[in-house]
Amino acid sequence: MTPEQWVEPVRGVGLVWARSLDGVIGADGGMPWHVPEDLAHFRHVTGTATVVMGRRTWDSLPERFRPLPGRRNVVLTRDASWSADGAEVVHDLATALDTDEPVWVIGGGQVYEAAVPFADRVSETVIDTEVAGDTVAPTLDDAWALVDEGPWQTSRTGVRYRFVEWRRRS
Ligand SMILES: NC(=O)c1ccc[n+]([C@@H]2O[C@H](COP(=O)([O-])OP(=O)(O)OC[C@H]3O[C@@H](n4cnc5c(N)ncnc54)[C@H](OP(=O)(O)O)[C@@H]3O)[C@@H](O)[C@H]2O)c1
Repeated sequence: MTPEQWVEPVRGVGLVWARSLDGVIGADGGMPWHVPEDLAHFRHVTGTATVVMGRRTWDSLPERFRPLPGRRNVVLTRDASWSADGAEVVHDLATALDTDEPVWVIGGGQVYEAAVPFADRVSETVIDTEVAGDTVAPTLDDAWALVDEGPWQTSRTGVRYRFVEWRRRS
């Protein structure tokens, strides 16, 4: 596939996740691996864009890392009384994604699943492990094309990982 076959971002909604070989993204409210290089990659990918996350993902962030600095932190919840310092609370996905600014949806499973139809790119880190978990990444169907597959690398924690990029086909 050539770049001109990619759909250019309409509103620039991307999804970014790290998953195991079998698609697990979370276990017991956290991520079942430690790959600091992926966290650095996440910071690089999201840059200064708006980040949209579910309330459970907000809860999963260590307090010292939230809100994620330098970015609008939009948190989805159905709880009208929920609030947190640094979180911009939104009660439906359409409102969360309704911006002309670039948006990265950063999890978790529920919110990725709901946001896939609105996204035009996925930045995926594949972790070379099979782990038990309770939350999985959405399956990307034929509407998606793999446009970049980086080499396997080894984390300083010993875990192998690779960065992969998907785009929505035209
Ligand atoms: N590996 C990765 O890249 C990655 C990234 C992020 C998260 N994670 C992991 O994923 C897990 C969390 O994922 P999850 O699926 O349990 O939860 P989640 O998607 O982070 O959050 C779910 C919550 O978001 C709110 N919500 C979801 N859809 C909504 C909608 N359409 N409108 C309004 N509010 C909505 C609800 O909050 P209320 O209950 O408050 O109403 C819901 O309970 C954790 O284990 C986390 O570590 C992994």
